[in-house]
Amino acid sequence: MGEHSIAIIGGDGIGPEVTREAFKIADAASEVFGFKLRKNEYPFGSQHFIDTGEIFPDAAFEEVKGLDAIYLGAIGDPRLEVGKIEFGIIAKMRFELDLYANLRPIKLYDERLCPLKGKEPKDIDMVIVRENTEGAYAGMHGFAHKGQALEVATQTMVYTRAGVERAVRYAFELAVERDKNRTVTLIDKANAVRAHDLWTRVFGEVAAEYPTINTEHAYIDAACMWMVKNPEWFDVAVTPNLMGDIITDLGAMVQGGMGIAASANVHPGRVSLFEPIHGSAPKHAGKDVASPVAAILAVSMMLGFLGEKEAEAAIEKSIIELLQAGRIRGVGTGVHPTSEVGDMVATEIRKVGASV
Ligand code: IPM
Ligand code: MG
Repeated sequence: MGEHSIAIIGGDGIGPEVTREAFKIADAASEVFGFKLRKNEYPFGSQHFIDTGEIFPDAAFEEVKGLDAIYLGAIGDPRLEVGKIEFGIIAKMRFELDLYANLRPIKLYDERLCPLKGKEPKDIDMVIVRENTEGAYAGMHGFAHKGQALEVATQTMVYTRAGVERAVRYAFELAVERDKNRTVTLIDKANAVRAHDLWTRVFGEVAAEYPTINTEHAYIDAACMWMVKNPEWFDVAVTPNLMGDIITDLGAMVQGGMGIAASANVHPGRVSLFEPIHGSAPKHAGKDVASPVAAILAVSMMLGFLGEKEAEAAIEKSIIELLQAGRIRGVGTGVHPTSEVGDMVATEIRKVGASV
């Protein structure tokens, strides 16, 4: 029987409540599929910082590095300086654990969730591979003559050949594994950001090693248009960090909203980080109205990465069935209390257990 050690950071706003539901499901799956979860909970987030001055202390960071996976609910708090806690927690993990591929599946589970006319689940099923350690997020920025009329602000987008290549390669491997349309689309802005020529060239070189995988290319602006007009064209797409950040919020809406979209920040063979894409939504915090579906899907991705493929599939299937049967209605609109959705999914998982 497998045992997995997990770091759990509920974080800010709705983070702790959706995390609680996600682990309700993880616990049900562990009973049904016979694995053990060793859960280490950490209090980090904005409130903890305000109370103690501590963001993510080194000792805890070292401890987390030695675990099997990290789960993060959400962070961000309007009381703090912009970016402080985001960089101290999320970006710290992405960079210092070298989690170079941010996988963001965009999958429509039920037609009624899609804001686009006439699109069905068969039309929307893709994974965006967002390069996760470089680009505009590398932290190379500065100001000169701060506050003066001639103030200068710069931020350098950083791309390394090795960094681009591993993200692109991940996307090709994923297209092989998914075996869907066997297509990888490169999304960039090489016509304006000339540094993206490195992406163009590396993509071409890696593609040559995968003769059975088709390739496509779209500039980010056009890709946003295609995502709305013809989402069925996408299978796997790979894109620089900032473009990936932007297009995956669009993708989240196409699949039914931030209450559904989940993500994995991975470095194969190392401890990886799983999180819903949504933020901390402070105005909904503590009201039991947030959708835990995204958080639950993030837990299912985590279990899949830990090798619990049956649990991953059962959780996703339960959610699809509940959505398609109309039992979970209006994801993220507060129709169902947060905990009720968790209970429904946990019941479905336990039924799987009772039937085997
Ligand atoms: C995301 C978020 C983060 C990002 C923020 C919170 C720094 O928007 O995970 O998509 O920009 O990467
Ligand atoms: Mg984002």
